[in-house]
Amino acid sequence: MAGFDKERVNSILNSILEQELAGVVRYTHYSFLVFGHGRIPIVSWLREQATESLLHAHQAGEMITHLGAYPSLGIGPLLDRHQGSVDAILRESLVTESKALKLYHALLEAVAGHSVMLEEYARQMIFAEEMHAGEVEKMLRRQGSIVEDLPPEGK
Ligand SMILES: [Fe+2]
Repeated sequence: MAGFDKERVNSILNSILEQELAGVVRYTHYSFLVFGHGRIPIVSWLREQATESLLHAHQAGEMITHLGAYPSLGIGPLLDRHQGSVDAILRESLVTESKALKLYHALLEAVAGHSVMLEEYARQMIFAEEMHAGEVEKMLRRQGSIVEDLPPEGK
């Protein structure tokens, strides 16, 4: 398992852990703020995302202890711009999820060619996060639009 910068990898993994834990809190929080006709499926989707973020946090924590390091007790930044619309929630989630995706890419770069296990883990997470981002982008499209049609920021 030698050959990669263990300290750097642990630091990336801890950032991932914190970012995913922030996701748990953020999605749970968002799920309280959805009203109107679409409430039930949207609330349940947001809570599924909270559960998935918790699973991702567990996976990152397990990787940290696998490497003999100590998992952070911290939590990533929690944005709350008090924007209640579902579009705003989804756009905010795209921004924060892209930070997690960058961390998984950084992990892949740090371990590439040195650890099949960590490489495989990073690749699987990149796959999961990119699929997730794609799903959110589809939710932000307008009906009848096949391409990304994000409304301008602030609307
Ligand atoms: Fe995640």
